[in-house]
Amino acid sequence: MTAEAIRVSPGWLDLREAVDAAARAPELVGRLRHVAPAESGWLIHDLACGSGAMGRWLAPLLSGPQRWVLHDRDADLLALAAADVPGPAADGAEVSVETRLSDVTRLGAGHFAGATLVTASALLDLLTWDELDVLIHACTAAGCPVLFALSVTGRVQLLPADPLDARISAAFDAHQRRLTPRGRLLGPDAVEAAVEGFRRLGAEVVVRPSPWRLGAAQSDLLVEWLAGWVDAACEQEPELARDADLYRRRRLREAEAGVLGVTVGHADLLVLA
Ligand SMILES: C[S@@+](CC[C@H](N)C(=O)[O-])C[C@H]1O[C@@H](n2cnc3c(N)ncnc32)[C@H](O)[C@@H]1O
Repeated sequence: MTAEAIRVSPGWLDLREAVDAAARAPELVGRLRHVAPAESGWLIHDLACGSGAMGRWLAPLLSGPQRWVLHDRDADLLALAAADVPGPAADGAEVSVETRLSDVTRLGAGHFAGATLVTASALLDLLTWDELDVLIHACTAAGCPVLFALSVTGRVQLLPADPLDARISAAFDAHQRRLTPRGRLLGPDAVEAAVEGFRRLGAEVVVRPSPWRLGAAQSDLLVEWLAGWVDAACEQEPELARDADLYRRRRLREAEAGVLGVTVGHADLLVLA
């Protein structure tokens, strides 16, 4: 299956929204408030918005009128985003939303004319270096801040530890970096690539950790994440299948008993023009 064929399910986005909100780095919003636009308000482009979680989290934390332009290539997710709009702003100002069916790898500076902020969540690791480079140039040319949140870092810790953790983790990371018809995906290298790319163009970049912390209270997401993590590892290394099957059962028993804890590394980065 190619990366192009993979669609993100609304159920998965729904499951992760609260955990994402708890993981996001609030300090970066503090920095963003210092560069808030004057009374004309915010024009925010959210790239690969999915069902719109970034706006629902960020809009109430910013003051002033906000116009959000939500981009995704999945029309069904855009419809969900349009049906559950964010706001109001922190000071009660109006928040409006427009959706655009877009391939975010094809956006240029012209698409961001007048933007005061470009955001994305859980996107960078899905891109190739060439796609990220185009995006970095488009954002830099737009001359506004950029908040790219929740990019995976490849740092995963499960407690209690299991002898198979490292092998599954390495196979999963290799799967994230797999070759696709578009090129090799960045996977866990995305954060470093983005930081270098923006800094090379002279921007200031602030990076903060935003890990998921999954335990008994997040067991629905934990179980879904675990299944996807192990499946991707086995797709990458089919010879893992037998051991991974026993591993999956062990881990699910631990999750059901409420004794499994998982930290999934992510990072948020704020780019100041
Ligand atoms: C993991 S989801 C994240 C969704 C949302 N940002 C969030 O944090 O809940 C990745 C999203 O990227 C979108 N996507 C991936 N590649 C894209 C592309 N080239 N152009 C537009 N959307 C894309 C998918 O449709 C999906 O909605």
